[in-house]
Amino acid sequence: MTLRISVIGIGYLGAVHAASMAELGHEVIGLDVDRDRVAALQAGHAPFHEPGFDELLQRGLDSGRLRFTSDYAELADADVHFLGLGTPQLADGMGADLGHLRSAIASLTEVLPARGGAPTLVVGKSTVPAGTSRELAATLEQVDGARLMWNPEFLREGFAVQDTLVPDRLVYGVPSGDEQDERVAMLDAVYAPILERGVTRLVMGYEAAELVKASANAFLATKISFINAVAEMCEATGADVTDVSRALGMDDRIGAKFLRAGLGFGGGCLPKDIRAFLASAEDHGVGDALGFLREVDAVNGRRRTRMVALAEETLGGLEGRRITVLGAAFKPDSDDVRDSPALEVASRLRAAGARVTVTDPEALRTAQRRIPGLCTVPDTQDALRDAELVLLLTEWREYRDLDPVATADLVASPRIIDGRAVLDPQAWREAGWEFRALGRPD
Ligand code: UGA
Repeated sequence: MTLRISVIGIGYLGAVHAASMAELGHEVIGLDVDRDRVAALQAGHAPFHEPGFDELLQRGLDSGRLRFTSDYAELADADVHFLGLGTPQLADGMGADLGHLRSAIASLTEVLPARGGAPTLVVGKSTVPAGTSRELAATLEQVDGARLMWNPEFLREGFAVQDTLVPDRLVYGVPSGDEQDERVAMLDAVYAPILERGVTRLVMGYEAAELVKASANAFLATKISFINAVAEMCEATGADVTDVSRALGMDDRIGAKFLRAGLGFGGGCLPKDIRAFLASAEDHGVGDALGFLREVDAVNGRRRTRMVALAEETLGGLEGRRITVLGAAFKPDSDDVRDSPALEVASRLRAAGARVTVTDPEALRTAQRRIPGLCTVPDTQDALRDAELVLLLTEWREYRDLDPVATADLVASPRIIDGRAVLDPQAWREAGWEFRALGRPD
Protein backbone atom coordinates (compact mmCIF):
# COMPACT_ATOMS: atom_id res chain seq x y z
CA MET A 1 0.00 0.00 0.00
CA THR A 2 1.38 3.40 -0.98
CA LEU A 3 1.06 5.97 1.79
CA ARG A 4 1.63 9.71 1.72
CA ILE A 5 4.44 10.41 4.12
CA SER A 6 6.25 13.49 5.29
CA VAL A 7 9.61 13.63 7.04
CA ILE A 8 10.12 16.81 9.05
CA GLY A 9 13.80 17.63 9.56
CA ILE A 10 15.98 16.32 6.74
CA GLY A 11 19.35 16.32 8.42
CA TYR A 12 21.28 13.11 8.44
CA LEU A 13 18.61 10.89 9.97
CA GLY A 14 15.64 12.54 8.22
CA ALA A 15 17.15 12.63 4.73
CA VAL A 16 18.09 8.95 4.90
CA HIS A 17 14.66 8.08 6.28
CA ALA A 18 12.84 10.09 3.59
CA ALA A 19 14.77 8.45 0.73
CA SER A 20 14.33 5.01 2.33
CA MET A 21 10.55 5.47 2.65
CA ALA A 22 10.40 6.40 -1.07
CA GLU A 23 12.43 3.25 -1.78
CA LEU A 24 9.73 1.24 0.04
CA GLY A 25 7.20 2.63 -2.47
CA HIS A 26 5.63 5.50 -0.53
CA GLU A 27 5.07 9.08 -1.71
CA VAL A 28 7.39 11.13 0.42
CA ILE A 29 7.91 14.82 1.03
CA GLY A 30 10.85 15.94 3.18
CA LEU A 31 10.62 19.29 4.95
CA ASP A 32 13.29 21.50 6.44
CA VAL A 33 13.46 25.16 7.40
CA ASP A 34 16.98 25.21 5.88
CA ARG A 35 16.21 26.19 2.27
CA ASP A 36 19.74 25.45 1.04
CA ARG A 37 19.47 21.90 2.29
CA VAL A 38 16.06 21.50 0.64
CA ALA A 39 17.43 22.85 -2.67
CA ALA A 40 20.50 20.59 -2.53
CA LEU A 41 18.48 17.44 -1.85
CA GLN A 42 15.89 18.35 -4.48
CA ALA A 43 18.76 18.69 -6.97
CA GLY A 44 20.05 15.24 -5.99
CA HIS A 45 23.04 16.45 -3.97
CA ALA A 46 23.63 14.72 -0.65
CA PRO A 47 24.81 17.27 1.93
CA PHE A 48 26.90 14.57 3.68
CA HIS A 49 28.97 11.52 2.81
CA GLU A 50 27.07 8.28 3.29
CA PRO A 51 27.73 5.12 1.26
CA GLY A 52 24.70 4.23 -0.90
CA PHE A 53 22.73 7.38 -0.10
CA ASP A 54 23.36 9.28 -3.36
CA GLU A 55 21.93 6.42 -5.41
CA LEU A 56 18.94 6.04 -3.09
CA LEU A 57 18.21 9.79 -3.28
CA GLN A 58 18.48 9.82 -7.06
CA ARG A 59 16.21 6.79 -7.42
CA GLY A 60 13.61 8.48 -5.21
CA LEU A 61 13.76 11.74 -7.19
CA ASP A 62 13.64 9.94 -10.54
CA SER A 63 10.62 7.87 -9.46
CA GLY A 64 8.70 11.08 -8.72
CA ARG A 65 7.88 9.69 -5.25
CA LEU A 66 10.38 11.87 -3.36
CA ARG A 67 10.50 15.65 -3.11
CA PHE A 68 11.52 18.34 -0.63
CA THR A 69 10.01 21.58 0.62
CA SER A 70 10.22 24.29 3.27
CA ASP A 71 6.49 24.90 3.36
CA TYR A 72 4.39 23.15 6.02
CA ALA A 73 1.23 23.75 3.95
CA GLU A 74 2.51 21.14 1.47
CA LEU A 75 2.43 18.47 4.17
CA ALA A 76 -1.25 18.87 4.90
CA ASP A 77 -2.43 15.79 3.02
CA ALA A 78 0.15 13.31 4.36
CA ASP A 79 -1.17 10.32 6.34
CA VAL A 80 2.02 9.85 8.34
CA HIS A 81 4.55 12.46 9.49
CA PHE A 82 7.98 11.41 10.74
CA LEU A 83 9.92 13.75 13.00
CA GLY A 84 13.63 13.53 12.21
CA LEU A 85 14.70 16.66 14.02
CA GLY A 86 17.89 17.00 16.00
CA THR A 87 17.98 17.24 19.80
CA PRO A 88 21.31 19.06 20.30
CA GLN A 89 23.02 19.50 23.63
CA LEU A 90 21.70 22.48 25.60
CA ALA A 91 24.02 25.35 26.48
CA ASP A 92 24.28 23.84 30.01
CA GLY A 93 26.40 21.10 28.40
CA MET A 94 24.12 18.31 29.61
CA GLY A 95 20.42 18.20 28.70
CA ALA A 96 18.79 17.83 25.25
CA ASP A 97 17.29 20.83 23.46
CA LEU A 98 13.74 19.92 22.41
CA GLY A 99 13.09 23.28 20.73
CA HIS A 100 13.08 21.97 17.16
CA LEU A 101 10.66 19.17 18.04
CA ARG A 102 8.31 21.48 19.91
CA SER A 103 8.17 23.97 17.06
CA ALA A 104 7.54 21.20 14.50
CA ILE A 105 4.61 19.99 16.60
CA ALA A 106 3.31 23.57 16.83
CA SER A 107 3.52 23.95 13.03
CA LEU A 108 1.77 20.61 12.51
CA THR A 109 -1.10 21.60 14.77
CA GLU A 110 -1.73 24.53 12.39
CA VAL A 111 -1.92 22.46 9.20
CA LEU A 112 -3.48 19.20 10.43
CA PRO A 113 -7.00 20.53 11.12
CA ALA A 114 -7.37 20.85 7.30
CA ARG A 115 -7.68 17.03 7.25
CA GLY A 116 -11.06 17.31 8.92
CA GLY A 117 -10.35 14.70 11.59
CA ALA A 118 -8.99 11.99 9.25
CA PRO A 119 -6.55 9.66 11.10
CA THR A 120 -3.05 11.15 10.95
CA LEU A 121 -0.07 9.53 12.57
CA VAL A 122 2.92 11.57 13.77
CA VAL A 123 5.97 9.40 14.47
CA GLY A 124 8.94 10.69 16.44
CA LYS A 125 12.34 9.26 15.51
CA SER A 126 14.69 11.60 17.37
CA THR A 127 16.62 10.62 20.51
CA VAL A 128 14.74 12.26 23.38
CA PRO A 129 14.60 12.16 27.18
CA ALA A 130 11.92 9.91 28.66
CA GLY A 131 8.70 11.87 29.03
CA THR A 132 9.07 13.85 25.79
CA SER A 133 6.51 11.86 23.78
CA ARG A 134 3.90 12.29 26.47
CA GLU A 135 4.49 16.05 26.50
CA LEU A 136 4.38 16.40 22.70
CA ALA A 137 1.30 14.15 22.45
CA ALA A 138 -0.60 16.42 24.86
CA THR A 139 -0.25 19.29 22.37
CA LEU A 140 -0.56 17.34 19.13
CA GLU A 141 -3.53 15.22 20.06
CA GLN A 142 -5.70 18.27 20.62
CA VAL A 143 -6.10 18.15 16.84
CA ASP A 144 -8.96 15.85 15.91
CA GLY A 145 -7.59 12.59 14.42
CA ALA A 146 -3.89 13.32 15.15
CA ARG A 147 -2.00 10.64 17.11
CA LEU A 148 1.64 10.31 18.21
CA MET A 149 3.97 7.29 18.30
CA TRP A 150 7.67 7.12 19.20
CA ASN A 151 9.82 4.98 16.92
CA PRO A 152 13.48 5.57 17.77
CA GLU A 153 16.11 5.27 15.07
CA PHE A 154 19.22 3.15 15.59
CA LEU A 155 21.10 3.82 12.36
CA ARG A 156 24.87 4.16 12.32
CA GLU A 157 26.65 6.63 10.10
CA GLY A 158 28.38 4.73 7.34
CA PHE A 159 25.66 2.04 7.39
CA ALA A 160 22.65 4.35 7.45
CA VAL A 161 20.84 3.01 4.39
CA GLN A 162 21.30 -0.64 5.35
CA ASP A 163 20.34 0.06 9.00
CA THR A 164 17.14 1.83 7.88
CA LEU A 165 16.02 -0.77 5.35
CA VAL A 166 17.13 -3.83 7.35
CA PRO A 167 17.12 -2.78 11.02
CA ASP A 168 17.93 -5.17 13.88
CA ARG A 169 14.47 -4.40 15.26
CA LEU A 170 11.69 -1.81 15.09
CA VAL A 171 10.57 -0.27 18.36
CA TYR A 172 7.07 1.23 18.54
CA GLY A 173 6.32 3.46 21.53
CA VAL A 174 2.56 3.82 21.90
CA PRO A 175 0.29 4.15 24.93
CA SER A 176 -1.88 1.15 25.66
CA GLY A 177 -5.61 1.64 25.23
CA ASP A 178 -8.37 1.52 22.66
CA GLU A 179 -6.47 3.09 19.80
CA GLN A 180 -3.21 1.23 20.23
CA ASP A 181 -4.00 -1.40 17.57
CA GLU A 182 -5.06 1.23 15.07
CA ARG A 183 -1.82 3.18 15.46
CA VAL A 184 0.32 0.05 15.32
CA ALA A 185 -1.47 -1.08 12.14
CA MET A 186 -0.80 2.27 10.50
CA LEU A 187 2.94 2.16 11.23
CA ASP A 188 3.00 -1.50 10.16
CA ALA A 189 1.58 -0.37 6.81
CA VAL A 190 4.48 2.08 6.42
CA TYR A 191 7.07 -0.56 7.25
CA ALA A 192 5.29 -3.51 5.56
CA PRO A 193 8.18 -4.38 3.19
CA ILE A 194 10.62 -4.32 6.13
CA LEU A 195 8.36 -6.46 8.34
CA GLU A 196 7.94 -8.92 5.46
CA ARG A 197 11.71 -9.44 5.56
CA GLY A 198 11.22 -10.88 9.04
CA VAL A 199 12.34 -7.88 11.09
CA THR A 200 10.86 -8.03 14.60
CA ARG A 201 8.84 -5.12 15.88
CA LEU A 202 8.38 -4.54 19.58
CA VAL A 203 5.40 -2.60 20.89
CA MET A 204 5.82 -0.84 24.24
CA GLY A 205 4.92 2.37 26.10
CA TYR A 206 6.26 5.79 25.17
CA GLU A 207 8.81 5.94 27.98
CA ALA A 208 10.13 2.44 27.33
CA ALA A 209 10.69 3.28 23.65
CA GLU A 210 12.49 6.48 24.58
CA LEU A 211 14.61 4.60 27.09
CA VAL A 212 15.55 1.83 24.64
CA LYS A 213 17.32 4.39 22.49
CA ALA A 214 18.97 6.30 25.34
CA SER A 215 20.17 3.08 26.97
CA ALA A 216 21.40 1.55 23.70
CA ASN A 217 23.71 4.50 23.11
CA ALA A 218 24.73 4.61 26.78
CA PHE A 219 25.56 0.90 26.69
CA LEU A 220 27.68 1.28 23.55
CA ALA A 221 29.54 4.25 25.04
CA THR A 222 30.07 2.32 28.27
CA LYS A 223 31.46 -0.68 26.41
CA ILE A 224 33.98 1.53 24.58
CA SER A 225 35.01 3.34 27.76
CA PHE A 226 35.28 0.04 29.58
CA ILE A 227 37.92 -1.26 27.18
CA ASN A 228 39.61 2.14 27.20
CA ALA A 229 39.79 2.03 30.99
CA VAL A 230 41.38 -1.41 30.62
CA ALA A 231 43.76 0.21 28.11
CA GLU A 232 44.89 2.58 30.88
CA MET A 233 45.62 -0.47 33.02
CA CYS A 234 47.50 -2.03 30.12
CA GLU A 235 49.63 1.09 29.77
CA ALA A 236 50.40 0.98 33.50
CA THR A 237 51.29 -2.72 33.53
CA GLY A 238 52.86 -3.31 30.11
CA ALA A 239 50.02 -5.43 28.73
CA ASP A 240 48.64 -5.12 25.21
CA VAL A 241 44.96 -4.11 25.15
CA THR A 242 44.38 -5.79 21.78
CA ASP A 243 45.25 -9.15 23.41
CA VAL A 244 42.85 -8.48 26.27
CA SER A 245 40.06 -7.22 24.01
CA ARG A 246 40.35 -10.13 21.58
CA ALA A 247 40.12 -12.71 24.33
CA LEU A 248 37.29 -10.88 26.10
CA GLY A 249 35.27 -10.61 22.89
CA MET A 250 35.31 -14.38 22.40
CA ASP A 251 33.04 -14.73 25.42
CA ASP A 252 29.59 -14.71 23.77
CA ARG A 253 28.14 -12.95 26.78
CA ILE A 254 30.51 -10.03 26.23
CA GLY A 255 30.84 -10.02 22.43
CA ALA A 256 33.62 -8.52 20.32
CA LYS A 257 31.75 -5.53 18.91
CA PHE A 258 32.39 -2.06 20.35
CA LEU A 259 35.34 -3.42 22.25
CA ARG A 260 37.98 -1.71 20.13
CA ALA A 261 40.25 0.35 22.34
CA GLY A 262 41.70 3.60 21.08
CA LEU A 263 41.00 7.28 21.04
CA GLY A 264 37.42 6.71 22.13
CA PHE A 265 34.01 7.75 20.87
CA GLY A 266 32.88 10.96 19.26
CA GLY A 267 30.22 12.02 16.78
CA GLY A 268 26.86 13.70 17.02
CA CYS A 269 25.26 10.98 19.15
CA LEU A 270 27.14 9.00 21.83
CA PRO A 271 28.81 11.94 23.65
CA LYS A 272 25.72 14.14 23.79
CA ASP A 273 23.34 11.25 24.42
CA ILE A 274 25.12 9.98 27.54
CA ARG A 275 25.08 13.50 28.99
CA ALA A 276 21.40 13.97 28.15
CA PHE A 277 20.59 10.55 29.66
CA LEU A 278 22.35 11.50 32.88
CA ALA A 279 20.64 14.93 32.98
CA SER A 280 17.29 13.24 32.46
CA ALA A 281 18.00 10.76 35.29
CA GLU A 282 18.79 13.71 37.55
CA ASP A 283 15.53 15.41 36.54
CA HIS A 284 13.69 12.24 37.56
CA GLY A 285 15.50 12.13 40.91
CA VAL A 286 17.60 9.04 40.07
CA GLY A 287 20.84 10.71 39.02
CA ASP A 288 22.84 8.26 41.16
CA ALA A 289 21.62 5.36 39.03
CA LEU A 290 23.40 6.73 35.97
CA GLY A 291 26.27 8.46 37.77
CA PHE A 292 28.69 6.00 36.14
CA LEU A 293 28.05 7.73 32.81
CA ARG A 294 30.08 10.65 34.15
CA GLU A 295 33.00 8.21 34.43
CA VAL A 296 32.30 6.87 30.95
CA ASP A 297 32.61 10.44 29.66
CA ALA A 298 35.75 11.08 31.72
CA VAL A 299 37.53 7.91 30.53
CA ASN A 300 36.68 8.93 26.97
CA GLY A 301 38.10 12.43 27.43
CA ARG A 302 41.28 11.09 29.07
CA ARG A 303 42.21 9.15 25.89
CA ARG A 304 42.45 12.45 24.00
CA THR A 305 44.60 13.97 26.72
CA ARG A 306 46.82 10.90 26.75
CA MET A 307 47.33 11.12 22.98
CA VAL A 308 48.47 14.75 23.23
CA ALA A 309 50.81 13.84 26.10
CA LEU A 310 52.26 10.89 24.13
CA ALA A 311 52.93 13.16 21.15
CA GLU A 312 54.68 15.68 23.36
CA GLU A 313 56.71 13.00 25.11
CA THR A 314 57.72 11.36 21.82
CA LEU A 315 58.92 14.63 20.31
CA GLY A 316 60.30 16.07 23.56
CA GLY A 317 58.13 19.20 23.13
CA LEU A 318 55.55 20.41 20.63
CA GLU A 319 56.50 23.99 19.77
CA GLY A 320 57.18 24.26 16.01
CA ARG A 321 57.22 20.47 15.45
CA ARG A 322 55.71 19.07 12.24
CA ILE A 323 52.95 16.56 13.01
CA THR A 324 50.77 14.82 10.41
CA VAL A 325 47.37 13.69 11.64
CA LEU A 326 45.75 10.85 9.68
CA GLY A 327 41.99 11.28 10.00
CA ALA A 328 39.60 14.09 10.86
CA ALA A 329 36.21 12.35 10.83
CA PHE A 330 34.88 10.95 14.11
CA LYS A 331 35.01 7.50 12.50
CA PRO A 332 35.88 6.02 9.09
CA ASP A 333 33.41 6.19 6.16
CA SER A 334 31.98 9.47 7.38
CA ASP A 335 32.65 13.16 6.76
CA ASP A 336 31.18 14.05 10.16
CA VAL A 337 33.55 15.88 12.49
CA ARG A 338 31.12 16.59 15.32
CA ASP A 339 32.99 15.97 18.57
CA SER A 340 35.66 14.16 16.56
CA PRO A 341 38.42 12.82 18.84
CA ALA A 342 40.90 13.18 15.94
CA LEU A 343 40.08 16.79 15.35
CA GLU A 344 40.17 17.67 19.03
CA VAL A 345 43.66 16.18 19.35
CA ALA A 346 44.78 18.06 16.21
CA SER A 347 43.41 21.28 17.57
CA ARG A 348 45.05 20.83 21.00
CA LEU A 349 48.40 20.13 19.36
CA ARG A 350 48.05 23.31 17.29
CA ALA A 351 47.16 25.28 20.39
CA ALA A 352 50.38 23.96 21.97
CA GLY A 353 52.41 25.37 19.06
CA ALA A 354 52.86 22.31 16.84
CA ARG A 355 52.66 22.65 13.03
CA VAL A 356 49.84 20.25 12.34
CA THR A 357 48.80 18.92 8.93
CA VAL A 358 45.53 17.00 8.82
CA THR A 359 44.48 14.63 6.06
CA ASP A 360 41.26 12.66 5.61
CA PRO A 361 39.62 11.04 2.57
CA GLU A 362 36.24 12.74 3.09
CA ALA A 363 36.14 15.11 6.04
CA LEU A 364 38.53 17.94 5.19
CA ARG A 365 35.80 20.36 4.09
CA THR A 366 33.80 19.85 7.28
CA ALA A 367 37.00 19.96 9.35
CA GLN A 368 37.96 23.32 7.90
CA ARG A 369 34.50 24.70 8.55
CA ARG A 370 34.89 23.65 12.19
CA ILE A 371 38.48 24.86 12.62
CA PRO A 372 39.13 27.78 10.27
CA GLY A 373 42.80 28.03 9.32
CA LEU A 374 43.45 24.32 9.90
CA CYS A 375 46.19 23.10 7.57
CA THR A 376 44.67 20.30 5.50
CA VAL A 377 46.20 18.26 2.68
CA PRO A 378 43.92 15.88 0.76
CA ASP A 379 46.57 13.49 -0.56
CA THR A 380 47.91 11.09 2.07
CA GLN A 381 51.44 10.92 0.63
CA ASP A 382 51.68 14.72 0.39
CA ALA A 383 50.42 15.08 3.93
CA LEU A 384 53.04 12.65 5.25
CA ARG A 385 55.96 14.34 3.52
CA ASP A 386 58.50 15.77 6.01
CA ALA A 387 56.51 14.86 9.11
CA GLU A 388 58.46 14.52 12.34
CA LEU A 389 55.61 12.53 13.88
CA VAL A 390 52.58 10.76 12.39
CA LEU A 391 49.40 10.19 14.38
CA LEU A 392 46.80 7.71 13.15
CA LEU A 393 43.59 9.00 14.74
CA THR A 394 40.74 7.76 12.48
CA GLU A 395 41.14 4.24 11.14
CA TRP A 396 40.22 4.70 7.46
CA ARG A 397 41.16 1.60 5.45
CA GLU A 398 43.82 3.43 3.47
CA TYR A 399 45.65 4.34 6.70
CA ARG A 400 45.39 0.80 8.04
CA ASP A 401 46.89 -0.41 4.76
CA LEU A 402 49.83 2.02 4.73
CA ASP A 403 53.12 0.36 3.86
CA PRO A 404 55.60 1.11 6.66
CA VAL A 405 58.62 0.78 4.34
CA ALA A 406 57.36 3.17 1.65
CA THR A 407 55.97 5.58 4.25
CA ALA A 408 59.34 5.77 6.04
CA ASP A 409 60.82 7.31 2.88
CA LEU A 410 58.30 10.17 2.92
CA VAL A 411 58.64 11.43 6.46
CA ALA A 412 61.43 13.44 8.08
CA SER A 413 61.63 11.10 11.10
CA PRO A 414 59.91 7.71 11.23
CA ARG A 415 57.82 8.09 14.38
CA ILE A 416 54.18 7.06 14.59
CA ILE A 417 51.54 6.81 17.30
CA ASP A 418 48.63 4.53 16.49
CA GLY A 419 45.60 6.02 18.23
CA ARG A 420 43.25 3.25 17.09
CA ALA A 421 45.38 0.14 17.75
CA VAL A 422 45.01 -1.02 14.16
CA LEU A 423 48.60 -1.21 12.88
CA ASP A 424 50.99 -4.13 13.26
CA PRO A 425 53.67 -2.89 15.71
CA GLN A 426 56.22 -5.46 14.57
CA ALA A 427 55.97 -4.57 10.88
CA TRP A 428 56.38 -0.86 11.62
CA ARG A 429 59.28 -1.39 14.01
CA GLU A 430 61.04 -3.67 11.53
CA ALA A 431 60.74 -0.89 8.94
CA GLY A 432 62.68 1.36 11.30
CA TRP A 433 59.83 3.27 12.95
CA GLU A 434 59.61 4.38 16.53
CA PHE A 435 56.16 2.91 17.06
CA ARG A 436 53.83 3.73 19.94
CA ALA A 437 50.11 3.06 20.42
CA LEU A 438 47.37 3.76 22.91
CA GLY A 439 46.96 0.75 25.20
CA ARG A 440 49.97 -1.15 23.84
CA PRO A 441 53.51 -1.49 25.19
CA ASP A 442 56.34 0.57 23.70
C1 UGA B 1 25.65 5.63 17.15
C2 UGA B 1 25.01 4.25 17.41
O1 UGA B 1 25.96 3.23 17.10
C3 UGA B 1 23.77 4.07 16.53
O2 UGA B 1 23.15 2.83 16.83
C4 UGA B 1 22.82 5.22 16.83
O3 UGA B 1 21.63 5.12 16.04
C5 UGA B 1 23.50 6.52 16.53
O4 UGA B 1 24.68 6.64 17.36
C6 UGA B 1 22.53 7.63 16.82
O5 UGA B 1 22.13 7.79 17.99
O6 UGA B 1 22.06 8.28 15.87
P1 UGA B 1 27.25 6.59 15.23
O7 UGA B 1 27.29 7.86 16.00
O8 UGA B 1 27.04 6.62 13.75
O9 UGA B 1 26.10 5.63 15.79
O10 UGA B 1 28.66 5.91 15.46
P2 UGA B 1 29.21 4.54 16.10
O11 UGA B 1 29.45 3.57 15.02
O12 UGA B 1 28.37 4.14 17.23
O13 UGA B 1 30.62 5.03 16.62
C7 UGA B 1 30.70 6.02 17.64
C8 UGA B 1 32.11 6.30 18.05
O14 UGA B 1 32.62 5.21 18.80
C9 UGA B 1 33.10 6.52 16.91
O15 UGA B 1 33.87 7.67 17.24
C10 UGA B 1 33.94 5.27 16.88
O16 UGA B 1 35.24 5.52 16.41
C11 UGA B 1 33.93 4.88 18.34
N1 UGA B 1 34.15 3.44 18.59
C12 UGA B 1 33.26 2.52 18.14
C13 UGA B 1 35.26 3.02 19.31
O17 UGA B 1 36.08 3.84 19.75
N2 UGA B 1 35.43 1.69 19.56
C14 UGA B 1 34.56 0.76 19.13
O18 UGA B 1 34.79 -0.43 19.41
C15 UGA B 1 33.45 1.18 18.40
